[in-house]
Amino acid sequence: MSNPSLGTALITGASSGIGEVYADRLAKRGYDLILVARNVERLTALATRLSTETGRKVETISAELGNAADRKVVEARLRDDAAITLFVNNAGVILGGGPLAQANVDELETMLDINVTALTRLAAAAAAGFAQRKRGIIVNLSSLLALLDTPQTAAYGATKAYVLSFTHSLDLELAPQGVQVQAVLPGYTRTPMIGNGAGIPDEQIMEVEDLVDAALAGMDNKELVTIPAQHGDSDYARVVEARTKLLSGLVANRPASRYGVTSIAA
Ligand SMILES: NC(=O)c1ccc[n+]([C@@H]2O[C@H](COP(=O)([O-])OP(=O)(O)OC[C@H]3O[C@@H](n4cnc5c(N)ncnc54)[C@H](OP(=O)(O)O)[C@@H]3O)[C@@H](O)[C@H]2O)c1
Repeated sequence: MSNPSLGTALITGASSGIGEVYADRLAKRGYDLILVARNVERLTALATRLSTETGRKVETISAELGNAADRKVVEARLRDDAAITLFVNNAGVILGGGPLAQANVDELETMLDINVTALTRLAAAAAAGFAQRKRGIIVNLSSLLALLDTPQTAAYGATKAYVLSFTHSLDLELAPQGVQVQAVLPGYTRTPMIGNGAGIPDEQIMEVEDLVDAALAGMDNKELVTIPAQHGDSDYARVVEARTKLLSGLVANRPASRYGVTSIAA
């Protein structure tokens, strides 16, 4: 049975890992679901299990998010379906790893299509629908790598830094319109993305259920940025504060004196 007060959650990348656990948890909370990914068999099996276990309405959309036509189907749904109240912008890939000078740039481009282009287009569609209805939550999956220098995965880390920066700015646009946004920054999480986790110490890998449960608690607390492994309440807030302080002196009409430029500014 559907729960009209919660509405419907649309989750991309729902066929495995983090997206699959979001689907489980959100159905159990009482959301109806729209599950998006390429693997139809996995999506259908998950939809059948969750609708049987929870009685929720669970629909699947098979979409290759690197393909413009497929993406547009999901965009239209996010923009126009007034039942959708929560969008988990989760699908992501890590491709073309290794030193950039030797990278397979076609793989890198595919990754940018999924992690940046699709994520942005889908967020824009959700933002339009939610702002019009003055209600909704957008959850964007970033990564701890957004905060780190990432040799060997420079482009992947940069896509996740994009997601973090994008979410900060979206919040400023959308909060006044009644729309909540959240960036989630997982570290290593036990999903197919990290394979069997070989070479990563066990104490550095979070179980995917714990990660999603913490992310949902952050969402409930209306956190803009949720870092499930961050123990100090205000550690990330201090980073933002330092960034704001740095910027306060940087908007100027003359270069700093150490550059020795005789400014032509009046
Ligand atoms: N696992 C980690 O350690 C970790 C850490 C930090 C951040 N993250 C981020 O968390 C998110 C989820 O990752 P995960 O660990 O759950 O990975 P995962 O288990 O590999 O799942 C990725 C999901 O994205 C979907 N997907 C991939 N390419 C797609 C495409 N072209 N079109 C449509 N769907 C596509 C996959 O479904 P199909 O293959 O069926 O299409 C799958 O459902 C990603 O954005 C990832 O960057 C993960």
